Amino acid sequence: MFQGQQVIVMGASHGIGEATAAAFAADGAAVTITGRSKERLESAAERIGHPVTTAELDATDPAAVTAFFEAVDHIDHLVVSLGPGSGHGAFGPFTELAEESLRAVFDGKFFAHFRVVQAAVPKLTRTASITLVTALSSRGAMPGTAGLAAVNGALDAMVPPLATELAPVRVNAVSPGVVDTAWWASMPEADRTAFFEKAAAHLPVRRVGRPEDIAHSVLYLAGNGNVTGTVLPCDGGANLATGV
Ligand SMILES: NC(=O)c1ccc[n+]([C@@H]2O[C@H](COP(=O)([O-])OP(=O)(O)OC[C@H]3O[C@@H](n4cnc5c(N)ncnc54)[C@H](OP(=O)(O)O)[C@@H]3O)[C@@H](O)[C@H]2O)c1
Repeated sequence: MFQGQQVIVMGASHGIGEATAAAFAADGAAVTITGRSKERLESAAERIGHPVTTAELDATDPAAVTAFFEAVDHIDHLVVSLGPGSGHGAFGPFTELAEESLRAVFDGKFFAHFRVVQAAVPKLTRTASITLVTALSSRGAMPGTAGLAAVNGALDAMVPPLATELAPVRVNAVSPGVVDTAWWASMPEADRTAFFEKAAAHLPVRRVGRPEDIAHSVLYLAGNGNVTGTVLPCDGGANLATGV
């Protein structure tokens, strides 16, 4: 389906972005992966095992983002899957949230996405797609996630109006629940394992997400020419009533 198409996956040196890049590359797309570290990108390219182009790029650097997209010829599919990991300051009780920390997370995720999409627009083909990776926090109403909900909710809210404004380019997002990636690396391993087990026990699918699950959703949104303006949950049924 994606044979020969130009795909850029931003934030693909590990996790969801890497799995997405791998899925596109396995389908024959010409994939460029970006991240902040040359070494991490080269390791990802090795794990992907198909030829991909790597580009070192910090999405919080406006000049670097502009220069990167100026050098691009055209884009058939853009995926943005980046943001600060769980060690950031957007987690925690609302009354203890530090404004500075929350601003930093808006910079690292919301404004990075805003900047990347804005710079990419002139290079998108008429039939191109944009897929963002947001998060369950915007829909989950979990205590301690008001900050994260605000960041991801701001992105979710942009999807429908962008889909009408940039049409016929399609704009969608995947909204994952808990996914086992390096995003959780700031949590000590034993705590992380316990947290994943507890989360899995409460989920209808009885497991936490894998990067490949989210990649599957991204490829569906990128490949289905009749879907736009959609925020697609991929969260194991996290928001379903359990009947308890
Ligand atoms: N894992 C989860 O449970 C989960 C749940 C819901 C939503 N999400 C969202 O899914 C997206 C991907 O997360 P993930 O789980 O795949 O995390 P991850 O494994 O930590 O991957 C994040 C990727 O983004 C890159 N990145 C981070 N900041 C960047 C920046 N300023 N400029 C360029 N690249 C940057 C990282 O590469 P470098 O560090 O090498 O730059 C890495 O490739 C994030 O937006 C996250 O909020 C994750």
